[in-house]
Amino acid sequence: MNQNSLYSINQLSEEEILRILDMAECFERQPNRDFLQGRVAATLFFEPSTRTRLSFETAVNRLRGRVIGFSDARASSTSKGESLHDTIKMVSNYADLIIMRHFLEGAAKYASEVTEIPIINAGDGANQHPSQTMLDLYSIRRTQGGLEDLTITMVGDLRFGRTVHSLIEGMNYFRPHFIFVSPDMLALPAEYRDYCDEHHIPTEYSHELTPEIIAQTDILYMTRIQRERFTDDEDYEAVKDSFILRADMLRPAKETMRVLHPLPRVNEIAMDVDKTKYAYYFTQAQNGLYVREALICRALNIPVTE
Ligand code: CP
Repeated sequence: MNQNSLYSINQLSEEEILRILDMAECFERQPNRDFLQGRVAATLFFEPSTRTRLSFETAVNRLRGRVIGFSDARASSTSKGESLHDTIKMVSNYADLIIMRHFLEGAAKYASEVTEIPIINAGDGANQHPSQTMLDLYSIRRTQGGLEDLTITMVGDLRFGRTVHSLIEGMNYFRPHFIFVSPDMLALPAEYRDYCDEHHIPTEYSHELTPEIIAQTDILYMTRIQRERFTDDEDYEAVKDSFILRADMLRPAKETMRVLHPLPRVNEIAMDVDKTKYAYYFTQAQNGLYVREALICRALNIPVTE
């Protein structure tokens, strides 16, 4: 295993999180650098993606590296029955780094155990999405001036939402207060409720996104109800429109409150929110480029200097 593999956000100390965020700030000032000349990164996406894959690939290109890989596993020998083990072994012969999204929880950790090159988890099933968490932390710090003592309200699919699960763990160092808003069917799994309790993180749970909740929130973290995670269409139909944020609902919000969303959205944020000062989700996605440049340099032990 390569010690720089990143399969879970809880592998990173507070110090390392802050160091990566500072590196990302350097890349925001100057995204085009020569740090990856002669290096090859492989992007293996066994699940669909727009932002994560394209921002990682843009990051490699802006650092003057090369990208190989696939965005649809059906075009790879996986479709002929090749195992994940053998795919990772093979790609390790060609690339210096593997960035991988997979539908199975634990796939990235497993991949990191079968290769000596670093693996970056770009999302494994409903488990973790650590690079998303790093860009969420970057966006929170940018909009709030720091990460400490914030009230973060998470809304929607808290059961299958890997970005939710990773962000809970990523915020642990910074004394958050969480408000979890979901229907029962999509409630936060016991594992993450227990995590909050064990780490003495104050939590509240609600079925409704009320004006009182919006008024005390610093970051409103909206999520999509993920059709692809349901095995029963009726269950999806029952909860798919549970929360739709409209601009008029933001009247009680603090001036500094910002709406984040890992994207893609379906209908959970109405288009009229986009025009408000509270909308930050498109800039959040843009921040993903700088953060992923930093994560790639961390994975390859490349020092980042101004
Ligand atoms: N946020 C996120 O993971 O988006 P994609 O699925 O488009 O990569």
